[in-house]
Amino acid sequence: MKETTLRIRFLGDPVLRKKSTPVKHITPDHRDILSKMAQLMYESDGIGLAAPQVGINEAMIVADVGNSSLYKLINPKIVKKEGSQVTEEGCLSLPGVCIKVKRARKVIVRAQDELAQTLTLEAEGLLACVFQHEIEHLKGKLIVDYASFFQRLKIKKKLEELKNASTLLSISTRSILSEQSESKERSNEELPESKTKSCKLQL
Ligand code: NI
Repeated sequence: MKETTLRIRFLGDPVLRKKSTPVKHITPDHRDILSKMAQLMYESDGIGLAAPQVGINEAMIVADVGNSSLYKLINPKIVKKEGSQVTEEGCLSLPGVCIKVKRARKVIVRAQDELAQTLTLEAEGLLACVFQHEIEHLKGKLIVDYASFFQRLKIKKKLEELKNASTLLSISTRSILSEQSESKERSNEELPESKTKSCKLQL
């Protein structure tokens, strides 16, 4: 698990699609990774980051939505959801992509802190959105999974510019093409405006 320098992994890196394992024993290594993740999140102008995004499939996330609270959470789980909200989300692992995602407006998250203390956090609005986004990263889920077929075509173009994505891109291109023939019947009114511009919120 020990990684000295962390770097953001982009779509196409299989680590982003793997399920993260729970952290059983919290060690100084985990605390070190969490600090480095927080540092990388700030350097990248992000408001959240999950361990798979730095190549580590262990259940850890960091978040800071700018209200001077930095959250470093281990084994986070959503135990309650309430209401709904739609937010235009970006993801540090999908540069230049912005997707509207519907999520719960309020969540209760149970997690452990760096010292293995159990925390119960109530979050609303943006922070609730970030927690849900990051916890999905731990399950291998990405915002691109919320995109419509047409959005994904646009995103695919963007992602072709990304380095390190060559292998998976050929796979996703194939699946997009096979999907294309099935969904030709779709009406144009479903065509979304391009959401492939860079997004304000990077998670
Ligand atoms: Ni993300």
